[in-house]
Amino acid sequence: MENPPSERVAFQDLQPHGGEAFGRAVLGGLALPHKALPAKFFYDQRGSALFEQICQLPEYYPTRTEMGILARCLPEMIPLLGERCVLIEYGSGNSEKTRLLLQSVRPLAYLPVDISHEQLRDACASLHRDYPWLTIEALCADYTGAFELPGWALDVELRRSIFFPGSTIGNFTPEEAVPFLERAARLVGRGGVMLVGVDLKKDARILNLAYDDPAGVTAAFNLNVLERINRELEGDFDCRTFRHRAFYNEALGRVEMHLVSTRAQVVHVMGVSFRFEEGESIHTENSYKYTATEFQALADRAGFDSQAVWTDEARRFSVHCLVSR
Ligand code: AVI
Repeated sequence: MENPPSERVAFQDLQPHGGEAFGRAVLGGLALPHKALPAKFFYDQRGSALFEQICQLPEYYPTRTEMGILARCLPEMIPLLGERCVLIEYGSGNSEKTRLLLQSVRPLAYLPVDISHEQLRDACASLHRDYPWLTIEALCADYTGAFELPGWALDVELRRSIFFPGSTIGNFTPEEAVPFLERAARLVGRGGVMLVGVDLKKDARILNLAYDDPAGVTAAFNLNVLERINRELEGDFDCRTFRHRAFYNEALGRVEMHLVSTRAQVVHVMGVSFRFEEGESIHTENSYKYTATEFQALADRAGFDSQAVWTDEARRFSVHCLVSR
């Protein structure tokens, strides 16, 4: 087998969001009868920084609630993840939650996968400073699609575990989540583990505040995607004429985020014109919420058995340990 990299830190850029992919997605999304954009394009440098601010907001309970569950239940989680595993993290961002695991798991190598180049580089540098013994092989890639792990990490003798915190699984529709989880189950192989954070269904008032905070940070995060289109795709959105709208759609079990045009207007992107009526919206994100049982049924469809599930006292958030069969 190939060996893990001899350097402690390696960085591979699989060019997940070359201008072309972004351009295609935006032109396609704005041409739909109900305009929509994929949520993964929120995370340029400014979007990632705004998301970090969201995670600190008092109204945005998922981050601190999940951290609390991880800190409290760590002794039960570690043996399930397996010491000396290859620890793969999807959407690693600033790797803040991983820090809770690293010292006890002592992985053979840590493979953070993230779409945001700058954030991934910063996270690697700071992890290397704080955990000099840790081998890190970072992959800048779009983990929502197919991507290749380095050959050595696929060795059948190795134990692979995936860490996917933050309830980012909720940003997929259930129909998208199943094939995504199937790929994850194949990647870890039979008996391999995925530790995944999942936000729970709850009172609409709590959800509406979490996605429409009074300080306007989530609004800025949402509107930044229009600024990104202006910067990268010769767009001419006037961001002052769009407003952030977020609400819990109880029937569909998801929080929806939209950008609503406050007037009739025509916007151009890469030379293509798009007409907006007053009040027409671009659907920018879904954030699905599940009961523990609903999520276990979804994981089961993808080839995962549920090994354990932990929640906080108020049952706001859950962390699932899934085992591939
Ligand atoms: C990254 N993801 C899990 C966040 C969520 O809660 O769906 C993104 C987010 N959107 C608005 N606030 C946070």
